[in-house]
Amino acid sequence: MKGTRYRYSEAPIWQAQREYYEEKGTKAWNNDQVPQYITSNPMIATAYAEMIFGFLQDRAAAGDRSEPVYIVELGAGAGRLAFHVLIELTQLIDYAGISLPPFCYIMTDLAMNNVQAWREHPALQRFIAEGVLDFARFDAVQDSVLHLVVSGITIDEGKLQQPLIVVANYFFDGIPQELLYIGDGKVYEADVYVEQPESKASLQPAEWLKQIKLRYEHRRAAEYEQETYPYRDVIALYQEQLEDSHFLFPAAGIACLERLNRLSLSGFVLITADKGDHLLDNWKFAEPPELVLHGSFSLTANYHAIQYVYEQKGAMALFPPHHYKNINVGAILHLNQPLDYPNLRLAYRRWMERFGPDDFFNMKWWVDLHLDSMGMQQILSFWRLGGYDAEFFIQSTKRISALLPESNDEEKQDLLHGIQRMWSSYYIMEQRYDLALDAGLILFEMDRYEASKFYLEISVEEQQDEVVSTVYYCLAICCFELDFIEEGKGYLQKLLELEPDNEEALALLNC
Ligand SMILES: C[S@@+](CC[C@H](N)C(=O)[O-])C[C@H]1O[C@@H](n2cnc3c(N)ncnc32)[C@H](O)[C@@H]1O
Repeated sequence: MKGTRYRYSEAPIWQAQREYYEEKGTKAWNNDQVPQYITSNPMIATAYAEMIFGFLQDRAAAGDRSEPVYIVELGAGAGRLAFHVLIELTQLIDYAGISLPPFCYIMTDLAMNNVQAWREHPALQRFIAEGVLDFARFDAVQDSVLHLVVSGITIDEGKLQQPLIVVANYFFDGIPQELLYIGDGKVYEADVYVEQPESKASLQPAEWLKQIKLRYEHRRAAEYEQETYPYRDVIALYQEQLEDSHFLFPAAGIACLERLNRLSLSGFVLITADKGDHLLDNWKFAEPPELVLHGSFSLTANYHAIQYVYEQKGAMALFPPHHYKNINVGAILHLNQPLDYPNLRLAYRRWMERFGPDDFFNMKWWVDLHLDSMGMQQILSFWRLGGYDAEFFIQSTKRISALLPESNDEEKQDLLHGIQRMWSSYYIMEQRYDLALDAGLILFEMDRYEASKFYLEISVEEQQDEVVSTVYYCLAICCFELDFIEEGKGYLQKLLELEPDNEEALALLNC
């Protein structure tokens, strides 16, 4: 191992981070290597959709109904958040039936592989066709312009009349940040020594990140104390309030927001979720940060600095008044008159402050551990609270199956309804899961033969060579119950191809 000294934001860890995402593409989320549930589930997406819907109402109230509102998601990753936001937002707009400005959601990422995967994703095609979804490769560290791949439009400086909405989840914690230290009221950069194995070239980024060792040394950095430093005020506050403390400073994140700000003549709204602290207390006496490894790595976002810098410019920052546990969700209204956006602010109050994505995740954590003691009504309620999320259904199928013999018709009716809702908003990830099989088997146990047949046939179609005999058996019974005798016999023949001596199938064929 040999150690080389770097400025923190220029250390090779950031290059490894970029390589990881660019090489893996949407496979980065296989086996939950990079976590996505907490920032991409239907509950958080609904909260975002409500805020965007509120913003569209506010723009309409101000008389701005003709110019489109662009929503740019930075680091959109697997794409699941965008999909759920679009589902909910389009439904809200249809339901309300009020006149609003048109909108277009732009999914962006550093990794071109992700952009290509979204473009071809079956679940996104209807939104592309409706003209409400577009894509762009956008490197937040340096790009200033958005080239939209579907419409061919280029969004550059001053192009937008409406404010831009920027969505950024698990984003500011993973792009380069400065690491600074305050001691005796003076500012230092915490340089990092990266001790790395000799064999760097042969290692994958994830493996290299696991093997390196980091140590820190302070270097006096008086330039942060000069009036010319662009974020002088916030650094001065840190000099005053912090002692013997390290903190990450999001210079690259703020520079990215500034470049995006220039695209519109009317400012931006940032909606963002992260392991990110907006309270200065969290940085007091902090040691240098540890890299949290998950294939790539993450740190903690300094929401306090972003909030402070934009409040200085007249923005309104919304963060929950309580402490967060897993994910902090904030909104920065960098707009001419933030108070003129009551619907947006109300949506934040209703969907983040009152009970937000962090509260939901805390409860999900508990529910996962206690599923075996939950009744059908509690399962249905929690599933509804989570927006009929597929992940919760997949986790609960065993318990649902155990509860079905005692369940009444109303509960079964609600289960069927939930499965239909879940299926209509299911976003297939790179690592496929046979959700149709789970749905079909539960419906079979509920004697809902028509619906069961619908899902089991999808499963057969998708699994092709891996269909198990039980599925053919259930399909045959569904067909007989629905009076599709010949079709049912066909499924029994398929079952017998897999298991020639299956007695039940032979008996059914001979009756
Ligand atoms: C931790 S993932 C978060 C993905 C998604 N937002 C979520 O919440 O699941 C970080 C994402 O940011 C992207 N990313 C990393 N560096 C970037 C950069 N400099 N510019 C734009 N995107 C970047 C990665 O490719 C990845 O998709």
